[in-house]
Amino acid sequence: MNPDKQIAKLRKTINDHNYRYYVLNNPIISDGEYDVLFRKLESLEKNNPEHINPNSPTQRVGSAPIAAFKTVKHNIPMLSLENAMGSIELIAFNKRLTKILDIKSIEYVAEPKLDGLGVELVYSNGSFVYGSTRGDGVIGEDITHNLKTIPSVPLKLRNKELSIPSTLEVRGEVFIPKKAFSILNKQQKINGKSPFANPRNAAAGSLRQLDPQITSQRPLSIIFYEAGLIEGKKFDDHLSFLNALRTWGFPTNPLVENVINSSGMINYHKKLEQKRNSLPYEIDGTVFKINNYELRKKIGTRSRSPRWAIAGKFKAQQITTTINNIEIQVGRTGALTPVAKLEPVFVGGVTVSNASLHNQDEIKRKDIRIGDTVLIERAGDVIPKIVKVIKEKRPKNSSPFFIPEFCPVCQEKTYKPENESIFRCGNISCSEQIKGRIEHFASKGAMNIDGLGGKIINQLVEKGILDSISSIFLLKKKDIIGLEKFGEKSAENLINAIEQSKTTTFSKFIYGLGIRSVGEHIAKLFEIEFACDINDFINTNIDRMEHINGVGPIVAKEVIAFWANKENKTIINQCLNSGVSIKKHNIINNDFFSGKIFVLTGSLQQINRKEAQEKIYTLGGKTTSSVSKNTDYIIAGSKAGSKLKKATELNIAILNETQFLELIN
Ligand code: IVH
Repeated sequence: MNPDKQIAKLRKTINDHNYRYYVLNNPIISDGEYDVLFRKLESLEKNNPEHINPNSPTQRVGSAPIAAFKTVKHNIPMLSLENAMGSIELIAFNKRLTKILDIKSIEYVAEPKLDGLGVELVYSNGSFVYGSTRGDGVIGEDITHNLKTIPSVPLKLRNKELSIPSTLEVRGEVFIPKKAFSILNKQQKINGKSPFANPRNAAAGSLRQLDPQITSQRPLSIIFYEAGLIEGKKFDDHLSFLNALRTWGFPTNPLVENVINSSGMINYHKKLEQKRNSLPYEIDGTVFKINNYELRKKIGTRSRSPRWAIAGKFKAQQITTTINNIEIQVGRTGALTPVAKLEPVFVGGVTVSNASLHNQDEIKRKDIRIGDTVLIERAGDVIPKIVKVIKEKRPKNSSPFFIPEFCPVCQEKTYKPENESIFRCGNISCSEQIKGRIEHFASKGAMNIDGLGGKIINQLVEKGILDSISSIFLLKKKDIIGLEKFGEKSAENLINAIEQSKTTTFSKFIYGLGIRSVGEHIAKLFEIEFACDINDFINTNIDRMEHINGVGPIVAKEVIAFWANKENKTIINQCLNSGVSIKKHNIINNDFFSGKIFVLTGSLQQINRKEAQEKIYTLGGKTTSSVSKNTDYIIAGSKAGSKLKKATELNIAILNETQFLELIN
């Protein structure tokens, strides 16, 4: 057989086995036999590179990482779902629909609500072309390179039993199964990386990779459940569409059923809730959709959710346990947070042994004491909270808990600022605060010093080697060698990582300082406003701060207070003297933008506000938050309001989004 035919035949065989494995759940060969076929195809393609095509099963990991995510506008918006909190709301939903449609009973398709990320995949004449995230429902990000790595995503559709539409947009949920998640987190730990909070976050992080090589190592799965735009084929109802998906090779959910009216919905919901913990993946409820497409069309959609579907939410998972102790954590800003140390219990798929008690007011309101038996709850991916104390089980000798008068770390007297509910340690030399500040400064979003994590920082602060963020840059190899888990080579790596971190950006450096209320986003706004000039930022004033687009009075005050402290200025200077260097932006003065002042208002569809501001800035322009006679142009997105009105009154030139995009391109 010539290689051309041989390759085509092998591809078909492999695709057939994929189909049996992922769609029918009924493989007929072992993993080992599959590997043999796969390797044979790889070697044939290698020897006949002219036959390689992007939809071959061997081409799931495209070679190079992409430079940045492109945006994709969904042909039909990806809506979200209205929630029903319990049976009563499901009954009301069905009642409303039967009334509007004027029919006696309605057939729904009942599906598990998968707790992952909604995506859309587009097939043209049976070949996978591109795929995107849901994004804001209108515009998502192009993640074709990552979707291709998911083994159960068909790259070429099967057309034996049913012809294929010329255009098929299909929607589904990407997720990581529970077992695979727990293995993934163990691996993260072994590799010294922090574990993911839950499968959903891990899946989200995996889809946001620029490099498909990394995504391909994450155990992602996908289940398909809805249609986007379809051209060249018509369906009467959702069940036939789901059947067609299966025949074409898309994995769908075997737990899908058709149910009638609210009694059918409630039964399905209860049945699924009982099964929830035994399913191999996380679900957070049920979805009910009208089956008949004609009826769907008749009842229509709202702006964000269809009227023809509803999500039945599961109750948060609750369980009782006891509080063994209450510990006080001191954060980098000196905030004292009480944390309940619980007798470990398994709830909602994870073992829980801590619960935040937030503050003294919360402890008092719920009367929480050491030794109490408490009902805890875990809803979705939120940190467990204490619902209530079971007073009947309270030990006789217990006493109310109070946040200590003195910092448990440095013994400084604690205080509670007026109008706040959090107690603080005001000693900025408190070792826990120092540790917290250094850890934040070294973290990924800030200076990104690989290898400088909590454990080593603890040791270095305890030994008095580190006492501020600037002291990091004075570290010597000899300070590190001999610390727990540090030898010659690892010490050298850390010193190199510190050296490398010195070339940084304004926003990363400023975010790293840990000024209260200044997150990564705000730091980026400052980078633009102060044009990467630290001294300009240090000498700012309240008026200037409050005029920055996106900066409110609280942030403005915090920044001013931060610079009012001489110690902070000294530390910055020490960093700069030790060689920290802030990269300047590459400003290419553009004839149109250079020296002009812009105000952005309304919502932009194709570019987000931060990107727009950055673009204006790199072309030599400036943005401000309020319209004045100094404004040169106003860029008005949809639903622009008072600013647009004012601009019209002041006779200021107005650009719409399309005009603006043309100018920046
Ligand atoms: S249908 C217009 N079906 O839930 C209907 N969505 O809150 C929306 N989801 O963004 C899509 N399981 O990511 C549908 N069986 C299912 C689903 C499901 C999970 C997600 C989806 C969507 C969100 C809506």
